[in-house]
Amino acid sequence: MTIDVLQLVPLYPDVQRELEARYRVHSADRLDEVASIVRAVVTNGHAGPPPEVIDRLTALEIIGSASVGYDGIPVEYARSKGIPVTNTPEVLNDDVADLAIALMIMTARRLLGSDAYVRAGRWAREGAYPLAGRASGKTVGILGMGRIGREIGKRAEAMNNKIVYHSRRQVADVAYQYYPDPVTLAKNCDFLIVILPATAQTEKIVGKDVIEALGPSGILVNVARGAVVDEDALVAALADGKLGGAGLDVFVHEPQVPEALLGMDNVVLQPHVGSATRETRRAMSQLVLDNLDAHFAGKALLTEIL
Ligand code: 8YV
Repeated sequence: MTIDVLQLVPLYPDVQRELEARYRVHSADRLDEVASIVRAVVTNGHAGPPPEVIDRLTALEIIGSASVGYDGIPVEYARSKGIPVTNTPEVLNDDVADLAIALMIMTARRLLGSDAYVRAGRWAREGAYPLAGRASGKTVGILGMGRIGREIGKRAEAMNNKIVYHSRRQVADVAYQYYPDPVTLAKNCDFLIVILPATAQTEKIVGKDVIEALGPSGILVNVARGAVVDEDALVAALADGKLGGAGLDVFVHEPQVPEALLGMDNVVLQPHVGSATRETRRAMSQLVLDNLDAHFAGKALLTEIL
């Protein structure tokens, strides 16, 4: 029996071919024609579908998202209509943790500036590049101690850093020092790495107070979501020298990046590439397909958001 799928984002090429071999796949521009026959939606954490589209998909049985974050999907609404939503935890932990550490090192060591210095021929003309700050032997604060936070902790520990953290609650099997609030965490670390989900509770959790507690020699790294940081306060603190630097993979209005950041040499900017390796994107895509296959085979879902 043919199963109709509405696809809002593409999957990794070879997984996409498998999807198309097993299902009848429709793109969003055919929504009007296929609304009553679509039984699955393939999406990611940013692409919806919004509640009004879910309402129109009268035969919908499952939403499969190629992302771990699901702030752009009305999960509770879907679940209230009996439609499970799956995401892609675990498979991207290493990549996102790698990027967090890369941003920490790049920002502290001023690697973008030193790279530009070499390319511009300034090394030969002007001599040694100005000294940077260390990324090892410091205190790394992790805001959010979930699966990815733990991987960041492991990597930062291997660099001889002390790890401290804050999350909704203290994590029983994590031995790092816990601080009960983000401001105290920021006061007590050199690097603050943000890796918690965007929810109504975490919106702008990194506000002016947290940023200023991190201080003029502190560095903020955000590999979570733009919404968890007060972006205006961040830009202002960087401009006023109240924060030492920032490594940012995510922004409030992606793909728009605050203009002021573009001219700052103490920030490193990335176009939301935390999970953007071929290996990981393939694994994420495969997990979406495996969840769909499990559902339509009447088996238990692999990674349902509960
Ligand atoms: C990508 C992400 O943004 O998994 C997440 O939550 O932020 C990312 O991996 C994207 O959803 C990949 O399709």
